[in-house]
Amino acid sequence: MPRIKLEPLGISINVSAKNRLWRSLKHAKVELAATCGGQGTCGTCALRVFDGASSLSPMQNLEQVTLKNTRKDISLYRLTCQTSVVGDGVVFYLDNKADKKLAQIFARLKNRLAPLNIYHPITGALLVQEGNLITQEILEKLLSDS
Ligand code: FES
Repeated sequence: MPRIKLEPLGISINVSAKNRLWRSLKHAKVELAATCGGQGTCGTCALRVFDGASSLSPMQNLEQVTLKNTRKDISLYRLTCQTSVVGDGVVFYLDNKADKKLAQIFARLKNRLAPLNIYHPITGALLVQEGNLITQEILEKLLSDS
């Protein structure tokens, strides 16, 4: 399962190579805007790629057209609804309002004691017991797609 890094959160998460990135991020509770519902036509789900672009699926014509219509430099962005992560080493930069809110939540949770048991939202596995420290590793597991 490929591992990506999300900045400025500073966390790494596992994503499924079978899913489009937008779906994996949604499972991880990173909700990106998607005005066209993942049809590849609005450009609102675009993320800036900082590193590892060669570990992303090839860009198709629809994605190129949409990025040309919505971004100044299409070489810096990918549409998460049209892109799969096929290898390790990809670093994305989250820069919209919702992403900043998530970063603030993470900053508040990290290195605090869990007020109650915290479970993985998909697998249901217990990540941290009430009263234990919420570490960076636990926050990364919380967002991972597994
Ligand atoms: S959700 Fe519209 S382009 Fe991705």
